[in-house]
Amino acid sequence: MGHVIAVAGKGGTGKTTIAALIIRLLKESKRCSLLAIDADPNSNLGESLGVETKQTIGSLLDEIAKHPDEIPSGMTKDRFIEFQVQSIISEAEGFDILSMGKPEGPGCYCYVNNVLRGVLSKLVSNYDYVVIDNEAGLEHLSRRTARQVDSLVIISDPTVVGLKAASRIDKLTKELEIKIKNKFLLINRANETFDQKKASEIGAKLLGQIPNDEQIYKISLNGSSLLQLSQEAVSLRALVKIGEKIWQNN
Ligand SMILES: Nc1ncnc2c1ncn2[C@@H]1O[C@H](COP(=O)(O)OP(=O)(O)OP(=O)(O)O)[C@@H](O)[C@H]1O
Ligand SMILES: [Mg+2]
Repeated sequence: MGHVIAVAGKGGTGKTTIAALIIRLLKESKRCSLLAIDADPNSNLGESLGVETKQTIGSLLDEIAKHPDEIPSGMTKDRFIEFQVQSIISEAEGFDILSMGKPEGPGCYCYVNNVLRGVLSKLVSNYDYVVIDNEAGLEHLSRRTARQVDSLVIISDPTVVGLKAASRIDKLTKELEIKIKNKFLLINRANETFDQKKASEIGAKLLGQIPNDEQIYKISLNGSSLLQLSQEAVSLRALVKIGEKIWQNN
């Protein structure tokens, strides 16, 4: 069964960056099968990992809605959708990646969405680890893209406003219809030692902090991949120290 790690947080807190670094560490430290899911329609997880993603689930849904009868003979509609989803997964070195995107058309997607939920659950269970980079809302989690999340990592900056947003996300997760085994709070871009008391009202367990890293800034200026970040980068070293809890199985 896939160990599902979902990264959430308000806009611009570093969800994609941290998701990419988690993927990098899992890829380097475990002999595992790994699926990255870009669940943000303004997707850039692929870019952060130096992978060009082809089609998205959204564009696939549009195609199916446009040509509902184009199912090869001898194939059920469900099997066809499963086959199509498999075909849009990009294979990179050490991991696969799937982009959710967003359907553009006005069509009714209820049936396909239902099938999709089953297909995605099955897909997730085929990997040892699945890392989901979410958009600022919890759209995909509330649509139950995954049946269960083993580790939800809420990213926040160290400010009071940032922590309030993290607290709101934490509360929102309680309304979701999916089971979340462990909830963590990760403070990103914190240069001073973070005062733990500030996070005491948030239900999620405080995992620690990731410093602001000049090297990440340089990489994002060039649009390069975070897989090229040096092993010595302060952000990566911090995540190595505190990340174990995110991917350990319990
Ligand atoms: N620890 C860090 N040190 C330096 N820069 C960082 C760090 N974390 C993230 N950044 C930078 O902050 C910006 C926002 O990060 P990122 O895109 O990961 O956030 P996000 O939460 O995914 O944003 P969005 O909500 O738009 O998807 C990026 O330019 C990224 O390079
Ligand atoms: Mg992002």
